[in-house]
Parts: sequence; C-alpha cells; structure tokens
Amino acid sequence: MTDTARWSEESEALAESVMAKYPQKRSALMPLLYIAMREDGYLSEAGMRRVADLVDLEPAQVSSVASFYTMYKLEPVGKYLVSVCTSISCWLLGGDEVLEAVEASAGVPSGETDESGVISPEHVECIGACGGAPAVQVNYELIEGLTPKKATELVEWLNAAQPATLNGDEMQALFGGERSFDWAINETNDATGPYPAFQPHGTIAALDRS
Ligand code: FES
Repeated sequence: MTDTARWSEESEALAESVMAKYPQKRSALMPLLYIAMREDGYLSEAGMRRVADLVDLEPAQVSSVASFYTMYKLEPVGKYLVSVCTSISCWLLGGDEVLEAVEASAGVPSGETDESGVISPEHVECIGACGGAPAVQVNYELIEGLTPKKATELVEWLNAAQPATLNGDEMQALFGGERSFDWAINETNDATGPYPAFQPHGTIAALDRS
C-alpha cells in the first residue's frame, strides 16, 4: 500500500465499515468511490488513489471502473446537478422540452456548468421513474411529472435559495406533478452535494430504521 492522503475520520470509518461487509475488500470498490466523491465534491485523482490503496487495487483499475459509469463525476460540477431523463417514456411526455427549459434557465447546455458554478444541467438515460415521466433528479433526489414551466421555476429556486440540503419529497411538492407510485423506502438522507445521498452500502440503513 502506498502512502496516499487519508480522508476525514468519518469517511475513513465509513470506508472500513463498508469493506467489512464483503469477503473481499475490492468488492467495496463502487461504494468507496461515492465516499471519495463526498470528500472532494467529485471523483478526484487523489480520491481514486485512496480507494485503490484501501482495496489493494492499482489506480488504473480503479480509474477504469470510475470512468465507465456516468454517475462518477471525474470533473467538478455545479452545486446542483440537474439530471433530466430523455429516454422513451420521458421523451414521449415532454422530457426534451423539460431539458430545454432547464438549459435555458441555467444559461448553459447539457454537460456544462453555469458561470457561477451553481447549476449543471445534464440529460440522462432512464432513471427508473418512467411511470412519473418526465422525471428529473437534482443531486440524485427525484422529482416526477415536471412541466417546462415547473422546470424553469425549479432552476430559478435553486439559484435564488441555494439550499444546503435537498429533499426529493419537498421538491416534488414544490415543482412536481403526478408521481409514479409511493416509493416503498423512506430515504431519510437529504442530498448535500452532486452525488447520491443514500448510504454507500445501499438501502440497508434505511430499512433498518423502518
Ligand atoms: S424513461 Fe425517464 S425515467 Fe424511465
């Protein structure tokens, strides 16, 4: 193991607890990448090197996994990552128009970040909320049934309020429309940055609390 910079005490402890759940440390690679993102706000080279150290892999092996999945951001993004689904169900119900509204309101196209570093619009493939199309996520917190007008209001609200944490249920009430169904698991962690808020080892913690 090389001597890479350690993370915060909390993240190091979390990483240990995640690795302890697997017979082989390397099986924890993907959740550890989320811990690395929470440390730096994105998946930095230093973060990937720390993960490689922790799971006894080469940095190139870690990088090859990280670069395959679009949810691992290898470059910094804005404070709010606004992901608009443009796959078939959402496209049929106006997903492209919702994306256009988000881009126009942010002032930048999909894949870029506005000048003040607040909003990063992106278009994504199906996010599993087809019944509530068109669906959008902000920092991976879900909002269903948006209209272009509501999408514009959402971006304006993010710019004006710049909330420290985001909660999908709250944004749904403010900007959403019809929902697909009542999601079974009450995910109690609010998003604190452009990375998933859920526990890095999945929904087990949420189930334990119910
Ligand atoms: S097609 Fe948009 S959530 Fe499935």
